[in-house]
Amino acid sequence: MGSFAKLAKRCVETEAPVMVKIQELLRGATDVMSLAQGIVYWQPPETALNKVKEIVWEPATSKYGADDGLPELREALLEKLRRENKLTKSSVMVTAGANQAFVNLVLTLCDAGDSVVMFAPYYFNSFMSFQMTGVTDILVGASNPKTLHPDVDWLEKVLKENNPIPKLVTVVNPGNPSGAFIPKPMLQRISDLCRNAGAWLVVDNTYEYFMYDKMEHYCLEDDHIVNLFSFSKAYGMMGWRVGYIAYPSEADGFHAQLLKVQDNIPICASIIGQRLALYSLEAGPEWIRERVNDLVKNRELLVEAMSPLGEDAVKGGEGAIYLWAKLPDNCSDDFEVVRWLATKHGVAVIPGSASGGPGYIRVSFGGLKEEDTRLAGERLRRGLQELVTDGMVQ
Ligand SMILES: Cc1ncc(COP(=O)(O)O)c(C=O)c1O
Repeated sequence: MGSFAKLAKRCVETEAPVMVKIQELLRGATDVMSLAQGIVYWQPPETALNKVKEIVWEPATSKYGADDGLPELREALLEKLRRENKLTKSSVMVTAGANQAFVNLVLTLCDAGDSVVMFAPYYFNSFMSFQMTGVTDILVGASNPKTLHPDVDWLEKVLKENNPIPKLVTVVNPGNPSGAFIPKPMLQRISDLCRNAGAWLVVDNTYEYFMYDKMEHYCLEDDHIVNLFSFSKAYGMMGWRVGYIAYPSEADGFHAQLLKVQDNIPICASIIGQRLALYSLEAGPEWIRERVNDLVKNRELLVEAMSPLGEDAVKGGEGAIYLWAKLPDNCSDDFEVVRWLATKHGVAVIPGSASGGPGYIRVSFGGLKEEDTRLAGERLRRGLQELVTDGMVQ
């Protein structure tokens, strides 16, 4: 059928998901090792998986649950938020992952036509969530090319001068795709600016446990701050679809409006997924940290693999599972480079332009075990060396 005429403009004008684009790009390519998707290589805690095996026949597992989440899980999460994140005044809603949490928030907090702020390189799904809900005035700030920290001076100006005043500012900490960690005083300044301007601040903490080199994650709490979390990476629960929103208990009407959105999208996160989340919490942060510690070696292997790009080209990796690397100046078509790396050298990465950073690539160090990371790294190194010396020779 010929045209897009009958489809929603909101959707048609939304970017296509980058992973789908990558799959199309790689069609026909064989033996490709992936450093592309943001995943971890481990499965959920064994004890937790064994426990969910026992509850598949319980009738309650197949029924709807409370929109907000299973009371026992919410209780455990409030305790975790208090203990680990020092969030004492937040309420919690369990969602089908942090992506759905973000959509919930956009629908709850923004009207079509509102202005919102994010910083490049940004998390592509957040960008798409704005686009597809009609929040098309997306003001994209730059990040410092050395530190990849958001340009807060620019934010200050925009929150004062833009008409309309942005309704919401969002950051991912530590970042996807940057892997950079925003220091506390900087996030505090962002928060103060938002508060003074009457804007919401949404902080995506999906990678809260993915911190390296003795850096410690933190959260901020205030009446204009919403924090997002995910079970996907920490507990290797990508396919179980469980995340949660910590939102200010004191904000009038927040819960009632959020509930309307939740009731119309998942109704509730899958019950068996929530149960697995609850049992996984028993394994606790130590279980996660043991696995995250192993990623340090992966990061080292891939930093080394990208050395042909030059000393200053590779950034990020302070947190999360990503390195962000600048391609040579004559490689502005990063999609082409990604296709070439996959088809000629058998290794897949994400093109930076999917995150508003053309001429860069995002490389994930979470998805493969050390031995496979080493192999993928060797392919990447060969590819990048050839790219730098001879260009994209077919
Ligand atoms: C920053 C960020 N937020 C959210 C998500 C999605 O998480 P979930 O699986 O919980 O929806 C991802 C996954 O890559 C992510 O990187």
